[in-house]
Amino acid sequence: MVSNKLSVLYAGLVLLGGVPPGATDTNIETSWHRFVRSPVSNIVEPIGIVSGSTIGNVSNPNGLINRQGPTVLSRNDENDMLPTVVVDFGQNVVGILSLDLVGSQNTSAGLPGLRLAFSETMEYLTNRSDFTRSDNASGNEKLTNGTDQVAVKNTNYTWTDLHGCEDGTKVCSDGLHGFRYVKIWLEALASDAPYTSSFGSVSISGLSLEWSAFLGTPDTFTGWFECSDDELTQWWYDGVYTVDMGTDVFLANETEPRGASSPTLEGKQVLFDGAKRDRDPYVGDLAVAALTSYLSHDFAESTRNVLEDLARHQRTDGWIPPASINNYTLPLFDYPLWWVVSSVDLVMYTGNTSYAETYWDTLVSVLDEYYPSNTNNVTGLLDKNADMGYGDYAFLPRSGPVTYYNALYVHALSYASQLAESLGRNDDASRWSSRAVAVGDALLKNNFDSSVGAFYDGGPCPGGEAGTFCNVHAQDGNAIAILAGVTDDKTAAEILDYWQNATSQVYGNAFYDSSVLSPGDQFNDRVYAFISYFEIAARFVTPGKASSAFDEIRRLYGWMAAHDPYITQWEGIGPNGTTYEGGFTSMAHGWSTGIVPLLISYVLGVKPQTPGFQTWRICPVVDGGGLTWARGDVPTPKGKIGISWERKNAQPGLLFVLETETPKESSGVVCVPTFGLEQPKIYMDGTSLTPSTSQTQDWVSVNVTGGKHTFTVES
Ligand SMILES: *[C@@H]1O[C@H](CO)[C@@H](O)[C@H](O)[C@H]1NC(C)=O
Ligand SMILES: *[C@@H]1O[C@H](CO)[C@@H](O)[C@H](O)[C@H]1NC(C)=O
Ligand SMILES: *[C@@H]1O[C@H](CO)[C@@H](O)[C@H](O)[C@H]1NC(C)=O
Ligand SMILES: *[C@@H]1O[C@H](CO)[C@@H](O)[C@H](O)[C@H]1NC(C)=O
Ligand SMILES: *[C@@H]1O[C@H](CO)[C@@H](O)[C@H](O)[C@H]1NC(C)=O
Ligand SMILES: *[C@@H]1O[C@H](CO)[C@@H](O)[C@H](O)[C@H]1NC(C)=O
Ligand SMILES: *[C@@H]1O[C@H](CO)[C@@H](O)[C@H](O)[C@H]1NC(C)=O
Ligand SMILES: *[C@@H]1O[C@H](CO)[C@@H](O)[C@H](O)[C@H]1NC(C)=O
Ligand SMILES: *[C@@H]1O[C@H](CO)[C@@H](O)[C@H](O)[C@H]1NC(C)=O
Ligand SMILES: *[C@@H]1O[C@H](CO)[C@@H](O)[C@H](O)[C@H]1NC(C)=O
Ligand SMILES: *[C@@H]1O[C@H](CO)[C@@H](O)[C@H](O)[C@H]1NC(C)=O
Ligand SMILES: *[C@@H]1O[C@H](CO)[C@@H](O)[C@H](O)[C@H]1NC(C)=O
Repeated sequence: MVSNKLSVLYAGLVLLGGVPPGATDTNIETSWHRFVRSPVSNIVEPIGIVSGSTIGNVSNPNGLINRQGPTVLSRNDENDMLPTVVVDFGQNVVGILSLDLVGSQNTSAGLPGLRLAFSETMEYLTNRSDFTRSDNASGNEKLTNGTDQVAVKNTNYTWTDLHGCEDGTKVCSDGLHGFRYVKIWLEALASDAPYTSSFGSVSISGLSLEWSAFLGTPDTFTGWFECSDDELTQWWYDGVYTVDMGTDVFLANETEPRGASSPTLEGKQVLFDGAKRDRDPYVGDLAVAALTSYLSHDFAESTRNVLEDLARHQRTDGWIPPASINNYTLPLFDYPLWWVVSSVDLVMYTGNTSYAETYWDTLVSVLDEYYPSNTNNVTGLLDKNADMGYGDYAFLPRSGPVTYYNALYVHALSYASQLAESLGRNDDASRWSSRAVAVGDALLKNNFDSSVGAFYDGGPCPGGEAGTFCNVHAQDGNAIAILAGVTDDKTAAEILDYWQNATSQVYGNAFYDSSVLSPGDQFNDRVYAFISYFEIAARFVTPGKASSAFDEIRRLYGWMAAHDPYITQWEGIGPNGTTYEGGFTSMAHGWSTGIVPLLISYVLGVKPQTPGFQTWRICPVVDGGGLTWARGDVPTPKGKIGISWERKNAQPGLLFVLETETPKESSGVVCVPTFGLEQPKIYMDGTSLTPSTSQTQDWVSVNVTGGKHTFTVES
């Protein structure tokens, strides 16, 4: 598909759609560098011309790639085809394109015009961009109709794709794009006459992209991951790259056009939802994307700016807007809870307790005013009134005592309680933890469908009576209920078995087991990596389900990695593994990067227990994935947590080694796997820990102070 040009334009070695060649670096501290996807500098050059894409009179198309002489597009008259060439950047990129123009010849009709169409995938590369900002703009913000225009002057100059028009309202371009391919052809819009025409010739000596987002080169990584499976390792870096593409400065002319521009965000670093589309920071998405940011580059500014801005737009009844879109009014019912979860994450991962103090009243008002006012005090469950018109992360037409809202409420209450306790706010902690238990119990009592062994979605079918339950089940509520501790291990396993059997696809697990809520939308074929993150995490925390977690990861992330544009992780997947909303779908969406926190939280096993990892848990899942070793660093405010584990599998003899390095002034719990042995021999720094009173089915856990420790397991 691409004319070959071996190139070291990206920080890792580029091999399209695949894993870098396994030239294993023997230096553990740098061997992961080969997986990094970032461009090496903020000026990015294309890597190829799409073969078979060149049409009409185009001389030396490869000049656009190798800069060995200009590429010339010429057209004399109506009978000549429109000269066209498609350039490939080799992977999804984001920023502002420039063309180095070295002259043109015009006819009396006007300067020769160029048109540009951008796309993240070949499939949606047509004569208009897969998406442009103008597609969703209105009024005088709508500049173009799917292509960017250039009037090529007869001089030597660089044209830059800024948001605006060259001549009043004519010859307009949209500015920033997220894309992999760009189609360039000589043509003018009829409406751009007489300024430009579809005749003449233009010479282009090259093109490049000014990268606008976070440039995640290896030196910017304060956390990293590597394991014995190169694919898993690669997807971790693909997730980081996806979030890097969405980490950018908020500018009114580059963000989501639907009323999202905001003076309080202008000029600040934010974590956008997507690179090409949904360029607005949504707080639910941060529940995943922010963790990717903290765990890779220890970069919190983009998340903190968003959380603070949304807090300052809290409504008097406690509701917090999901994003700046529609001037902070988009009505989502679940996102204030995600604001709580993401705020607690911020404090736990970065240790920013002053953020917690500043916004404590905001948090209290979400949990103690907004959600109680939407609680049915007879059932004890949140009950979304069908008339209130509020949606959620997927704008689902559901109302009533929906399992997802309640499970997320339990999770937010418990997590906020954990933070409150560590800040000495004991009244808040106990009030929230007891409410979490009460709502969880009510959920089990009211919403569980024992005929299948999973929670009902929790509302009526479309047109059904309030108070009834539609026979449909959803991934979100079931997965989050498990993570929130609503279920015991046996029920959790039952739910996960049902879910696997009912919704498994080669590209992941669907988010509904039926399409009854929205017939025609094929909900039972649609996969959101965002919500799948919580299901996969639930599999990791449920005894005996780790192999199904790895299986789901391999289907979901393997699918995205094997399909155009490769590398970046998609907003949603539709029937047959397609993009779920055609070319409109964002193919680089931070909320889909759950692979990054999953491999850190479960395969390395590292999670903060109190702000800034002052205390931590290290409980690696070492079975079920076929891994022989894993290692990495997790950044914390007091220094890194370094983990390295390896299966030795000597029978009898040494089975396993785990090395941990944690900040001196920190402490925590380490869980050492027992490999199903009834009497494992476990040593810490050479001293026996077994037999232990704290042995469970899967681990022996031990309280540990900071510093370096080595744990071994022998049969
Ligand atoms: C193609 O364009 C060049 C000018 O760039 C011109 O010399 C040549 O005659 C054109 N070829 C055809 C077949 O029109
Ligand atoms: C798309 O543009 C090419 C030239 O780049 C042209 O040959 C083709 O007819 C156009 N297709 C449509 C549907 O307009
Ligand atoms: C090209 O355009 C200029 C005006 O911009 C005009 O003076 C000139 O005659 C045009 N060239 C041809 C060949 O028509
Ligand atoms: C946004 O753009 C897409 C085309 O890319 C279009 O289908 C959709 O209707 C637009 N939505 C709005 C709200 O403008
Ligand atoms: C936009 O372009 C499409 C073809 O891509 C065309 O059908 C439509 O009429 C154009 N709209 C405007 C307002 O020019
Ligand atoms: C165009 O200008 C640049 C510098 O401004 C110069 O390096 C380059 O050689 C020029 N190209 C041509 C074809 O004149
Ligand atoms: C958006 O506006 C800023 C100035 O506010 C400018 O620096 C930037 O280049 C513009 N972006 C685009 C794509 O035009
Ligand atoms: C957004 O809402 C605020 C407060 O309601 C108002 O002051 C402001 O004018 C609105 N902005 C726009 C662009 O409508
Ligand atoms: C439920 O009770 C709480 C107080 O416990 C109250 O704040 C809330 O408004 C009640 N909910 C409804 C819907 O009446
Ligand atoms: C799996 O699902 C099928 C229907 O898709 C059902 O017939 C079968 O009983 C289920 N098996 C289990 C173990 O739940
Ligand atoms: C999925 O594949 C089936 C069977 O090949 C086909 O009938 C259906 O139209 C496809 N759906 C989509 C959205 O591609
Ligand atoms: C770890 O210490 C806590 C008290 O800080 C104690 O409750 C717990 O039992 C200890 N766990 C182990 C495994 O020693």
